[in-house]
Amino acid sequence: MKTTQPRDKPNVIPETFPPPQISIWRHQHILDLDSFTKEEIDLVFEITDAMMEVLGREIKKVPTLRGTTVATVFYEPSTRTRASFELAAKNLSTDVVNLDIPKSSVTKGESFLDTLRTLQALGVDVIVLRHSQSGAPYLAAQHLDISIINGGDGWHAHPTQALLDLYTLRRHFGDLTGLKVVIIGDILHSRVARSNIWGMSIMGCKVVLCAPPTLLPRELDNFIIRCHLSGISKEYKLEAALQEADVIMPLRLQFERQQSRLLPSLREYIQLYQLNSKRLSLAKPNALVLHPGPINEDVEISPEVAHSAQSVIEEQVTNGVAVRMALLYLITRGKR
Ligand code: CP
Repeated sequence: MKTTQPRDKPNVIPETFPPPQISIWRHQHILDLDSFTKEEIDLVFEITDAMMEVLGREIKKVPTLRGTTVATVFYEPSTRTRASFELAAKNLSTDVVNLDIPKSSVTKGESFLDTLRTLQALGVDVIVLRHSQSGAPYLAAQHLDISIINGGDGWHAHPTQALLDLYTLRRHFGDLTGLKVVIIGDILHSRVARSNIWGMSIMGCKVVLCAPPTLLPRELDNFIIRCHLSGISKEYKLEAALQEADVIMPLRLQFERQQSRLLPSLREYIQLYQLNSKRLSLAKPNALVLHPGPINEDVEISPEVAHSAQSVIEEQVTNGVAVRMALLYLITRGKR
């Protein structure tokens, strides 16, 4: 619901802002959720609530981060992440530079680090980075003094997507403890799944990873034990996984990352793993359907499920702007 603000009032974040627990924030960069505590994720949610209030106003802009500059540097395509970071930054009155990689000096042989160092020398405070190589944001964070936000690196991590997924669940369910979340499909290549495994485990969800064996990471069991992750299990049969599910998240088949044929046929995959209405009815009646996007309708999800009342896919996108406003606020605190 939109709330209009009186024209004579300064357009600022509410007076109760920031909350006292902001002092627990200790991140210069946002690289993945493995370094986050439950309290820090709750703090992100609390600040996101304030940003949602700003987004509900007639004028969705506050001067909070005036004087700071954010650069988006995307070596891979993106619609949601890049556009929502740009909008989030502009809503907070940050200056934004969108580096167009195909038209940049990268095409003249400039290295990854020299490109980022150039942006730092130009006065950029935060770089939002997407790269096909897992670990690229970590390399950047080691060599630069400014903040790096991981906008998705290879198969490894997509922390801001996981935070907006968790925030969307929190708006519907409140406490996330004990929620059964079923993630379906190409988990092997999914950075979204990996960051959500961390985030959902930290928040106390029970996560079932459901896929054909070739689309589950071989090291999954060792990873769960080594990282002391609780509540994570795997299930090959979708009908079994969906029983009592509160949340279902089908994933796109990432053919661009598959180096060999991992499925006998697409038709068989659709027969066994597509989330359709019949399968959705096996979950709890009020189960929510999430999808990080982009969607391939008729493959991992049927159109009637994607556009059903249980689908919160568009809401995820909307919430993503507020979550990213909160993260930009937290990461640049003290720089102004
Ligand atoms: N979910 C996600 O990362 O979407 P984009 O690739 O469009 O940014």
